[in-house]
This record gives sequence, C-alpha cells and structure tokens, in this order.
Amino acid sequence: MREIKVAPSMLSADILHLEEDIKKVEAAGADYLHLDIMDGHFVPNLSFSADIVKAIRPISNMVFDVHLMISDPEFYLENFVKAGADIVTFHYEAVENPVALAEKIHSYGIKAGISIKPKTPASVLSDIIENFDLILVMTVEPGFGGQSYIMEMNEKIAEVREMIDKTGKDIELQVDGGVSPKNAHLPVSHGANVLVAGSAVFKSEDYKTTISQIRSAE
Ligand code: DX5
Ligand code: ZN
Repeated sequence: MREIKVAPSMLSADILHLEEDIKKVEAAGADYLHLDIMDGHFVPNLSFSADIVKAIRPISNMVFDVHLMISDPEFYLENFVKAGADIVTFHYEAVENPVALAEKIHSYGIKAGISIKPKTPASVLSDIIENFDLILVMTVEPGFGGQSYIMEMNEKIAEVREMIDKTGKDIELQVDGGVSPKNAHLPVSHGANVLVAGSAVFKSEDYKTTISQIRSAE
C-alpha cells in the first residue's frame, strides 16, 4: 500500500484568519501546505506572492508545496526559494526547457515538480519525468478553487503512474482540483499518492475528520 499524503490548498483558507487556519490544518494532520501562486496571465486569476509565503513560514512546520501557475516561473523562482518553499512545481505549458528549470530548482537543495493541465497529454512527460520529484496532474483547469473533478483525468493519472513506476524512482504523483472525501478513492486507485484539497478541507467543519477521510478513501 502506498502512503497517501493530503495537501490542503491555502487558497480556500479564511484570509482574515490565515494563521489560525494554517495551524488548525497542521494540527489536523495535513502533510503538505499547498500554495497556489497565480499571475493573472498563465491563469485568469491572481492569488498571492512570495511575501505571503515568507510571512507564514515561521508559523508552520508543514512541507511548503508551491504550485506556480505563472508564465515565467524561472524569473520568480528565487523569491519562492528564499520564502521557504520545500517543493516548487511549475507548469510544463509555461516553459521552453523544463529539465533546465528542474536543475535550477535542485541547485537550491529543494524538490522540483512539474504540472500538466487537463488538455496536456501525459506523453509530454515521457522523456523528462526522471528529472522531477513530483508530477502534478491537474484534475481541473487551473485558476480557481471549488471546481468539479474532471473524471477523464483518471486515465491520465494511471498513465503517469505507469511512467513513474518504469523509472524505478520514488517520484510523487499529485492531483489537484475538485478532490473531496467522496471522490478521493478515484485518484488513489489510479495511482496518485498526494491529494491536494482546497475547499473540501477549508470549508469543512472538522479539518481532522475531512483530512483522514480523504487520506483513507477507498
Ligand atoms: C486550482 C488550484 C488548486 C485549488 C484546488 O487552480 O491549483 O490547488 O486551490 O481547490 P479545490 O480543492 O477547491 O478544487
Ligand atoms: Zn494547486
């Protein structure tokens, strides 16, 4: 059995009570804190900057999992490294040379992830997958929390899992978008091991119950 990690997305946290929400989600057993960075260009929405990530770093021991939905991830990389990112994931669609950027991320001593949007086929990863610590399969169009899980992504998750297994390396397979206790069994049964969940966690009454339901969904 694969260990399942849950990564609540801060995008859905209560901005007026950010510190409280982050501490609550950590105490509730979250593995990673997923930090969605949007530039209003790669995606039609804005979120928050590296300054916010830096401000919350001292209040949490969670793995800071930074998801860059921005057009020029290389330009902003160092800001997020200095802010305390443990994993930086950028989009395949945003860069010319993903392997070079992975190497640059690794040069800072942190983990590198690559993400593909729903319309991008898994096959684009076949020659580059070994350069990454994490593959993020988007299960919604990036840009907004609270959307519905795209069922057609299940096959893509399985395809990426097969590619990862062929490498023999310990590469994480993350899914992001529309994941809840009701459907978390789908990405898991298709091979995902890190589940991002924004609204399902932060809009729930009891973070601990929701996180353990997502983690153990069958
Ligand atoms: C979407 C973001 C997600 C989002 C997930 O662009 O990458 O991380 O916050 O939110 P839910 O879980 O509500 O779909
Ligand atoms: Zn995300």
